[in-house]
Amino acid sequence: MMLHRARYSLFSGGPDRGTTMVDYIGVSDIQRIVNALGPAEFMARLAGEIEADYRRWPEFEKAPRLASHSPVGVIELMPATDGKLYSFKYVNGHPKNTAAGLLTVTAFGVLADVDTGYPLLLSELTVTTALRTAATSALAAQQLARPDSRVMALIGNGAQSEFQAIAFHRLCGIRELRVYDVDPLATAKLVRNLAAMPELADLRVVRTHSASEACKGADIVTTVTADKRNAVILTPPMIAPGMHINGVGGDCPGKTELHADILRLPDMRVVVEFEPQSRIEGEIQQMPADYPVIELAQVLRGEAVARRSASDITLFDSVGFALEDYSALRFLHALISQQRLGRRDLDLVPVLDDPKDLFGGTLAGCKAARPRKRKTA
Ligand SMILES: NC(=O)c1ccc[n+]([C@@H]2O[C@H](COP(=O)([O-])OP(=O)(O)OC[C@H]3O[C@@H](n4cnc5c(N)ncnc54)[C@H](O)[C@@H]3O)[C@@H](O)[C@H]2O)c1
Repeated sequence: MMLHRARYSLFSGGPDRGTTMVDYIGVSDIQRIVNALGPAEFMARLAGEIEADYRRWPEFEKAPRLASHSPVGVIELMPATDGKLYSFKYVNGHPKNTAAGLLTVTAFGVLADVDTGYPLLLSELTVTTALRTAATSALAAQQLARPDSRVMALIGNGAQSEFQAIAFHRLCGIRELRVYDVDPLATAKLVRNLAAMPELADLRVVRTHSASEACKGADIVTTVTADKRNAVILTPPMIAPGMHINGVGGDCPGKTELHADILRLPDMRVVVEFEPQSRIEGEIQQMPADYPVIELAQVLRGEAVARRSASDITLFDSVGFALEDYSALRFLHALISQQRLGRRDLDLVPVLDDPKDLFGGTLAGCKAARPRKRKTA
């Protein structure tokens, strides 16, 4: 029997033909995969993968994501390809969901082989989005923040917040976290989760009573709030010379976190992921179309310098770009491809004796396509 599904292996550097099923990573799998390394190590390695992919920026076909807005949220599709692998993510953003006991952001995605168009991996991306967002934030901060940055304000203590704290502790050397959320229960949850991690024993966590208090003495300010409006989490008086702002929560038209005057500060240097998308979705949607920005890829490829001096104010105007999900799916697929035990798969694509006989091989008679066992060496 001819098998038409190919599994692309990062380590072998090419398609490994001969397996029949689509790999699957669910919530329990991602727990196992991430905890095997530890979240900090996982994000450090993922940041390396994201950096490697950003460095080959010209190889990627890039497009702003396709967003479908409703009064309460957004559903988005995010494709990326380098001509060898193709990925897409489905992601939503519904700030009001938490009041109903639901997550603000959920996601899943697919990695596929461009040569055949066959899917290789279907994965949860809710946890993975939090991991890749924090990894990207920390990667950008390594380039943009002052190297001696040790204190970070973390404003918005919801689902993404622990991931940001862990990534900045590991990758940027943050040792004091000044936390604030309008919801004290969210802050209590963050403090509890961080205190339970022995590897964060040298991280001092300080609860504050306002965004302004959180920013006092901070080298880096991370805003990761959720509100579907032009919120004003940060105002110019909160911004000190030399600060780096990691703006994560403003990521949709009409959904921002910074007062526009921050963007007008004379020493402001703004870095975005993919300019055409960030003009629509980022903090810079508040500015004219010719407002100067630098793309993260330019910084990582050594084509532009974002921070010119210790007094520059830098902003990573993060909205989340499809390449980061591509990197995450590629990394996850490589990790599970190394595993023999605990792998799960799905019969997502029919396997047929005659590829032109889809009807006969599936719906007609008793010759229905059936799940096939994974071949293991
Ligand atoms: N840039 C990216 O790549 C990216 C990726 C994932 C999520 N996000 C965005 O990050 C944000 C946070 O996501 P989440 O999953 O943590 O959401 P969440 O709803 O779990 O947490 C958001 C927190 O912000 C708090 N908050 C709201 N308004 C506030 C204010 N004025 N001051 C202080 N705190 C406030 C809420 O009480 C809540 O605890 C969302 O807006 C989401 O769309 C961006």
